[in-house]
Amino acid sequence: MITDPDIERYATEHTSPLPDFMAAIAADTREHLQAPEMLIGELAGRFLEFLTFALRARRVLELGTYSGYSALAMASGMGSGGGEIITCERDPEHAAIARRNIAASPFADMIDVREGAALDLLAGVEGPFDLIFIDADKPSYPAYFEACLPLLADRGLMALDNMLREGDVLHPADEGTRVLAELNDQIAADPRVVQILLPLRDGLVLVHRAG
Ligand code: DHB
Ligand code: MG
Repeated sequence: MITDPDIERYATEHTSPLPDFMAAIAADTREHLQAPEMLIGELAGRFLEFLTFALRARRVLELGTYSGYSALAMASGMGSGGGEIITCERDPEHAAIARRNIAASPFADMIDVREGAALDLLAGVEGPFDLIFIDADKPSYPAYFEACLPLLADRGLMALDNMLREGDVLHPADEGTRVLAELNDQIAADPRVVQILLPLRDGLVLVHRAG
């Protein structure tokens, strides 16, 4: 976590909690899955809900489903008017857990969990999307960024998770962090897009098309 834990707790306490069934998914994920730090959590989850709400998003693409929490957070901002979320997961065990969590939620009809490598699955996906959330394996982020940019709606947003790597982007020591630090530099110099790097949880980059 980048922010002071007391500040993070205070911010979470003053943020509307996500629905009860999502708190149960978070608790189950933390108890039963390896790497529960991959869960985006209440604060970033509520932020994703605000994005789909503000965008009036009707079509969302996610790379990296994990236990389904972030897809459900995005679905909760899309309201009862419906919409579609396609979410891609490479790990069969995670895909199965996500499908189970999503099937038991009020948003089961909106979310399509596709199993496989994201770049392979993207070949079968058609844009435009109002929101694209990239949260899969870090070394492939540059390829995901390039593949997803053409899939964005004119006023769509791309969001990329973990772009601060707990602060390690300042001094990258592993391959995933090096790739993300380079991608931050590349996006900052990319005339096609306007970006903001938010120090929310583990660093969330938002991108929209320039001009
Ligand atoms: C890792 C991946 C994530 O997407 C995340 O949010 C946190 C950690 C990881 O691979 O360690
Ligand atoms: Mg992540």
